[in-house]
Amino acid sequence: MQSFETLAVQFNNFFSRRHFPLEPATLYEPNEYFLHQGGKRIRPVLCLMGNEMFDDIKKDAWHVGTSIELFHNFTLIHDDIMDKAPVRRGKETIHEKFGTNTAILAGDVMLVSAYEELNKIELTYLRPILTLFNKTAKEVCEGQQLDMDFEKMESVSFDAYIKMIALKTSVALAASLQTGAILGGAGKRNQHLLFEFGRKLGIAFQIQDDYLDAFGDPVKFGKQVGGDILANKKTFLLIHTLESATASQKNELKKLLLSNSDDKIARVQQLYKDCNADSWALQLKQQYLEEALSHLEDIAVLSIRKEPLRELAHYLIRREY
Ligand code: IPE
Ligand code: IPE
Ligand code: MG
Ligand code: MG
Ligand code: MG
Repeated sequence: MQSFETLAVQFNNFFSRRHFPLEPATLYEPNEYFLHQGGKRIRPVLCLMGNEMFDDIKKDAWHVGTSIELFHNFTLIHDDIMDKAPVRRGKETIHEKFGTNTAILAGDVMLVSAYEELNKIELTYLRPILTLFNKTAKEVCEGQQLDMDFEKMESVSFDAYIKMIALKTSVALAASLQTGAILGGAGKRNQHLLFEFGRKLGIAFQIQDDYLDAFGDPVKFGKQVGGDILANKKTFLLIHTLESATASQKNELKKLLLSNSDDKIARVQQLYKDCNADSWALQLKQQYLEEALSHLEDIAVLSIRKEPLRELAHYLIRREY
């Protein structure tokens, strides 16, 4: 059983080749630039870990992992356009550096290359994994649309927020684990439990992402701190603050949502703190972590085989980037 760190090094060795042709450089260089900025490689490693929980890692798991990472990077390129994000992984975003039209196309061709990579796996696995892949990809689009719809709404319920982040973020983490389980020969029940572990962990992961977006250290985080506040994203921080604020705090927050003033980020951060939304994050992450771990415990394999995922789960909800 290998740790996340060990598998991430191995995956990076496999992944760090060139992925695109040389010409036209105006299309492919942006993608090469983006893929070589790093990234935690969580999803491909989840695939490898899902596989290794049940059996030795299959050659196909490296292709599936690569496909998943390419898909993930495609979603990030397009997400940064939608979110008007200037930086990612500590570097300029693709649309900022190369223009929006190139970023759209670079993302499109990244998605095609994800399918190309998937097409390298054994035929017996292709059908079930492609089916899961496609279902997940559609759900990510649904979640991303809801995320944008919510920006324009005055308020959003906590349940709607959880559903939205489950779609845009969790299902991809959950499906990465399940593809690994499929390759490892896991039965349906174990696959389902591992998926549910990933789904709950993914919710905690996005909660941490939303927390870092408001309160992260800009250098470590590698993304613009306060970007969600500027975009009026309906994160749990905003939802909690709206629910627990006094009438005057609520008024101030609602005014800030309509404004574009220079101190918008600082003032919203202060309101979040005044309403203890930042400490609520700890409670929420803990709750979803525990639910995730209970699904993991139910999986019918020796407990020791679950240790690397247990460890990763604890790390992910405390990560600083
Ligand atoms: C960012 O994902 C998008 C979210 C779902 C929050 P990661 O935090 O895994 O991004 P990288 O790949 O490590 O940069
Ligand atoms: C993005 O959520 C989820 C996907 C890319 C599908 P965010 O918009 O919060 O991700 P970051 O913070 O930009 O990485
Ligand atoms: Mg974003
Ligand atoms: Mg987004
Ligand atoms: Mg975010």
